[in-house]
Amino acid sequence: MKKLAVVTGASSGIGYELARFAVEDGYALVICADEVEIERAAEKLGRLGGTVEVVQADLATPEGVDSLWQAIEGRDIDLFFANAGRALGQAFHDQEWRDIDRLIALNIGQTTTLLHRVGRQMHKRGSGRILVTGSIGGFVPGPFDAVYDASKAYLDSLSYALQDEWRDSGVTLTCLMPGPTETRIFTREGNHLQDAPITEKPKDDVTTVARAGYDAMMAGERGVVPGFTSKVMALLSGVVPQSVLAQIHRMGAEPKKGGGS
Ligand SMILES: NC(=O)c1ccc[n+]([C@@H]2O[C@H](COP(=O)([O-])OP(=O)(O)OC[C@H]3O[C@@H](n4cnc5c(N)ncnc54)[C@H](OP(=O)(O)O)[C@@H]3O)[C@@H](O)[C@H]2O)c1
Repeated sequence: MKKLAVVTGASSGIGYELARFAVEDGYALVICADEVEIERAAEKLGRLGGTVEVVQADLATPEGVDSLWQAIEGRDIDLFFANAGRALGQAFHDQEWRDIDRLIALNIGQTTTLLHRVGRQMHKRGSGRILVTGSIGGFVPGPFDAVYDASKAYLDSLSYALQDEWRDSGVTLTCLMPGPTETRIFTREGNHLQDAPITEKPKDDVTTVARAGYDAMMAGERGVVPGFTSKVMALLSGVVPQSVLAQIHRMGAEPKKGGGS
């Protein structure tokens, strides 16, 4: 019997790469995402020789989480990647409440539900590895991406707390905290980041970022910030006043004048 890896948000970006590494390491996969694109990801991953099960579900809803849980409950989950997430640009007062609500439900509410269910199962068994995709955005106040950065601060904090609770349990939890990484998160229509200057700037390579997270998880490390610039930002966040960090973030996130998204 192959060991089991479960990856949320595996249809593209960091999650797809994490799923690819797991399948290359011989894990059977259960992958989940909201859109039909997840089927194409499953085909590609299957061609690498893996067993791939797909759950197409909206993980911003309790029903979506329940359908993923039904597919994995009762099986020993060896690796769990809590990766699905979305961003939301623009000024807070220009954002629609339903978009804010959905981001909080996905990045915080339902991700916590899944971590609770999976973490409880792993803790009972005394083994398992979890990787949470947080962000260096969690270290800084994020004007024009404010709720997103706050949601990642929650995830970064939750991760470090749970690692401590589980330190003697055989369960490891690693927090991957990428800086800006080249994925579709910047160009997805609903994320409203098309007019943010950061979208046009060079970003970290997605494979390198995911690799750093995967390797840190396998080594049982507590957290990893991939990339030199992001490491510097993470260090600065401990010493530079919050108001200055907010200004630095604004430079990359404030929509360019005349932008329409
Ligand atoms: N790229 C960066 O700069 C960066 C930096 C720090 C942290 N991160 C984090 O990395 C993670 C992955 O993002 P990415 O950059 O790889 O972007 P991405 O390519 O947009 O991937 C996002 C993944 O999450 C899934 N997803 C979104 N909403 C969902 C929902 N309601 N239900 C189920 N799945 C959903 C997407 O699937 P669908 O298309 O089916 O919705 C997709 O598979 C996110 O948590 C993000 O916050 C990214």
